[in-house]
Amino acid sequence: MDVTTAILTRRSIHSLSGPAPSDQEFAYLLKGAAAAPDHGRLRPWRWILLRNADLEAVGARLAAEAEPEERDLVMKKFMRAPLKAVLVFSPKAKPRVPEWEQLASASNVAYGLMLLLHARGFGSIWRTGRLCQSPGSRSLLGVELDEQLLGSLDIGTPAVPAEPVRRSLEDVTDRMHFLRR
Ligand SMILES: Cc1cc2nc3c(=O)[nH]c(=O)nc-3n(C[C@H](O)[C@H](O)[C@H](O)COP(=O)(O)O)c2cc1C
Repeated sequence: MDVTTAILTRRSIHSLSGPAPSDQEFAYLLKGAAAAPDHGRLRPWRWILLRNADLEAVGARLAAEAEPEERDLVMKKFMRAPLKAVLVFSPKAKPRVPEWEQLASASNVAYGLMLLLHARGFGSIWRTGRLCQSPGSRSLLGVELDEQLLGSLDIGTPAVPAEPVRRSLEDVTDRMHFLRR
């Protein structure tokens, strides 16, 4: 799949089933995504891969923090994809590269990874929500004090197989500006 097709046909996939990429395939795709622009080549990010029992353990921790009547739903939502790749932002102390630039680098990698997954026939969606605010999950995931949870990519195979459709594009020329002199 060429890059224009990948960009124009990628959609966030809410309903995902198996198969998901193996750890080896994820590593291969991540290597590609890591070629994204990254000031200072700091790689200020890391991924924690959750499947099966690990997914359940973090889901249970999240559910335990929810109101009793919400717990089942929280758990169900957390378990809805076969692979959850949690994105941890790990900024490095480099005065030449401010933290916002490092955050931009981490976002570049996430988007690149979504495109590569899509080009291979996998689906993904970036989710944030409760996970980013959960102290219990932070500790279970081993997120350090100077790190930040940026959510996760739910990854799998689209539950409803569909031919990639090019999205109809919005006119964004009103977002283009020129110097007026
Ligand atoms: C940083 C970030 C956080 C997101 N968090 C959520 C989320 O918590 N739940 C969700 O359903 N989608 C989430 N999304 C996905 C967006 O909602 C999705 O990209 C948007 O609906 C557009 O769909 P598309 O990717 O198919 O164009 C998030 C996307 C980004 C970039």
